[in-house]
Amino acid sequence: MTALLVAAARAIETYRHDALARDVYAEHFVRAAPASAGWPVRMHQVPDGDANPLWGRFARYFGLRTRVLDDFLLQSVSTDGARQVVLLGAGLDSRAFRLEWPPGCVVYEVDREGVLAFKQKVLDGLSATPRAVRVPLPIDLRADWVGALADAGFDRAAPSVWLAEGLLFYLPPDAEKSLIDRVDRLSTEGSALAYEVKLDKDLLEYRDSPLYTSTTEQIGIDLLNLFDRETRPDSDADLTSRGWSTSVHTPYDFTRRHGRGPLPEENDALAGNRWVFANKART
Ligand SMILES: C[S@@+](CC[C@H](N)C(=O)[O-])C[C@H]1O[C@@H](n2cnc3c(N)ncnc32)[C@H](O)[C@@H]1O
Repeated sequence: MTALLVAAARAIETYRHDALARDVYAEHFVRAAPASAGWPVRMHQVPDGDANPLWGRFARYFGLRTRVLDDFLLQSVSTDGARQVVLLGAGLDSRAFRLEWPPGCVVYEVDREGVLAFKQKVLDGLSATPRAVRVPLPIDLRADWVGALADAGFDRAAPSVWLAEGLLFYLPPDAEKSLIDRVDRLSTEGSALAYEVKLDKDLLEYRDSPLYTSTTEQIGIDLLNLFDRETRPDSDADLTSRGWSTSVHTPYDFTRRHGRGPLPEENDALAGNRWVFANKART
């Protein structure tokens, strides 16, 4: 359901006149799932338009996030020369189909079996052709997924680019720690990683925020119930101690850079969101 929520947001973003990212596949996922078939996929289908906290501000947040992480991935494969891209918790991410990958790129998509099976069915119905070698890996990230990735052809001796977009706050702290540990062990010098975290000390502080209440009321997704509420690990410090260089940004940094996107507000459920970019330096 959360993957469908992000897909609906990307569909809406796609048809804005000032779109930050375009994903022509997104609306097909939303339409194909009975649970989301009635959700809006165009802004004009939202009666209160941009004033709607879910389909206005929150959807724009996902549009901005998509654009920023598109740019991160494309820059990483072009400047660092990595040809292996691993999308952790890929959900309905269509980057393997949307982005102009350099020749020789392999995109691994890790998510749970049901999500990837649904995604494949929709893509098959569209006769969609990936622009890289695409390898879906149906695995639960709480289990040991290193062997499955290696069996699928991942080469730990070659640089890689990793993405955990909209994922870590759903995982228990130990699962996040072991995920970071595995990414580090599988990443040779010249590799890169981007991920999203929530730094809030107490997620419930924003339980009455327009963003959370409208998501629950309009589409029945109670995000606070899905997020793991235990104290989060400091993955930034962990990566730094392992020799990665990191930079931590608020989404608002990119809103200002692009001239559009969400800005801070009162009772802001996005206040603790950070996008972290990490590089394992060549020595
Ligand atoms: C909010 S969606 C984000 C999807 C995608 N990264 C995006 O931004 O469009 C979260 C995704 O994480 C996946 N996920 C959550 N827990 C997982 C787990 N333990 N193992 C594998 N995937 C998981 C869900 O199935 C879902 O597709």
